[in-house]
Amino acid sequence: MESLYRKYRPKRFSELVGQDHVKRVLIRAIEEEKVSHAYIFAGPRGTGKTTTARILAKALNCENRQGAEPCGKCYACKAIDEGTFMDIIELDAASNRGIDEIRKLREAASFRPIEGKVKVYIIDEVHMLTKEAFNALLKTLEEPPEHVVFVLATTNLEKVPPTIISRCQVLEFRNLSEDLIYKRLKEIAEKEGINASDDALKFIAKRSMGGMRDALTMLEQTWKFAGSEISLKDVEEALGLVGIETVKRYIDALVSSDVNEIVNVIEEVYRSGKDLSVLVQETIDYLLEEISSGRYEYIGLSKEFLTILKDLRFFENKKLYLKTASISMCKNLNPSLKSSEKDTKKTVKSEVKQEKIEKEERFDIAKVEMQKVNVEARGIPKEVDKVIEYLKEEGDLSIYVALSMADEIHIEGNKIKVIFSNEKKVHYEVLKQKIFEAEDAFKKVHGKDYMIEVESKEETQRTKKIKKKLMTLFDGEGEES
Ligand SMILES: Nc1ncnc2c1ncn2[C@@H]1O[C@H](COP(=O)(O)OP(=O)(O)OP(=O)(O)O)[C@@H](O)[C@H]1O
Ligand SMILES: [Mg+2]
Ligand SMILES: [Zn+2]
Repeated sequence: MESLYRKYRPKRFSELVGQDHVKRVLIRAIEEEKVSHAYIFAGPRGTGKTTTARILAKALNCENRQGAEPCGKCYACKAIDEGTFMDIIELDAASNRGIDEIRKLREAASFRPIEGKVKVYIIDEVHMLTKEAFNALLKTLEEPPEHVVFVLATTNLEKVPPTIISRCQVLEFRNLSEDLIYKRLKEIAEKEGINASDDALKFIAKRSMGGMRDALTMLEQTWKFAGSEISLKDVEEALGLVGIETVKRYIDALVSSDVNEIVNVIEEVYRSGKDLSVLVQETIDYLLEEISSGRYEYIGLSKEFLTILKDLRFFENKKLYLKTASISMCKNLNPSLKSSEKDTKKTVKSEVKQEKIEKEERFDIAKVEMQKVNVEARGIPKEVDKVIEYLKEEGDLSIYVALSMADEIHIEGNKIKVIFSNEKKVHYEVLKQKIFEAEDAFKKVHGKDYMIEVESKEETQRTKKIKKKLMTLFDGEGEES
């Protein structure tokens, strides 16, 4: 079954939810035939960047445009919707970071469109390009071919060089409001014959934190789990949430330093088969709500939990880690523990010592856990293995784990390709975030520059499909790579 978020990808500007400023600018440009040669679509994930790029591409290639809206029926519109149109080229910069790819792109861009009127290059995660690749891209942006429009999409605008930004028109996508997401969910639920209660949909809208893709994924998850009648409880269960009662018990236990109760709550959640990171996530959600309604005493606690959430995914034994972290946290919380010693100097000293011990404890757990990560067994190239060893001892543990979890790692010259299967999305994201740090680690160990590219398997599939189409089109003359 096609996923809901794919099925309900808006096909025209009027279907796109929110992003009014972006829509206004693009619609006017299309109507006045003043479309720029290069746009940057910047903003959070799942808010409509790729969707809008494709609508723009359709509007530019449609044979039967109505105002600024693509007709949706002509050959170009249909082919673009199906993802098979030859003149829309989507490139993922996270797995094509180098100058060679951009050079190839520049060359290809100079040829006229094959099927349509305008070639549209959509470069996703453009901030991942190397410096050299950006320079090559800059040259193209300085003298763009007449028949080409670039859409550079990014979730990290601040990582895009100013020279590139100044050549593009920047359109900023925003997180969607809870209300807009709720309405869209309601609309889609009705179309699919899903009878979902209002509080269920509102809960999903809130939890999606502004991302429409996440919201639709949650609706779908619940639908598959509970069928067409959906209550708030169904959502909580389908998403494997622990629920507000448990969260409150947990926080009470922390605040009153009730070690037994802390352990109880963690054990209960664990035994019910739920992911412990969910408990942490929900605790943070709850604390943030409390803070926003004036309970500022929770600020420190919420900060601690953010760190825990970040660390938790790197531990195999999450239960052990969460217990240790929770218990060590409640000592900081309980003022009576701190004021029990009269000599303040002594108190400070012992607190420092205490903190050091706790840190060391945490680190010990880390070390044990880390060793379990299966580094061998996957035929990792020797150069990479050395770096992994280095990272384990003195580098960034999150990069260490990400590299250790990769499904495939290939080296060719100075280019390293790291491939993750879909279920290792978390590690893929971590490495993508820390790619420059990872490259530094390679430099430290081997004394020369490497370029790392990351790829998640899903994207590879798509690329393969398009390549196949190219091959048949050129009667088998397309190159293998
Ligand atoms: N503004 C929106 N209006 C309606 N649906 C949306 C909107 N934004 C996202 N969606 C839904 O989420 C899905 C993913 O959106 P899209 O691919 O455009 O996100 P994106 O901004 O490119 O995200 P990413 O940064 O992860 O690439 C769409 O197929 C659609 O179902
Ligand atoms: Mg996208
Ligand atoms: Zn059309």
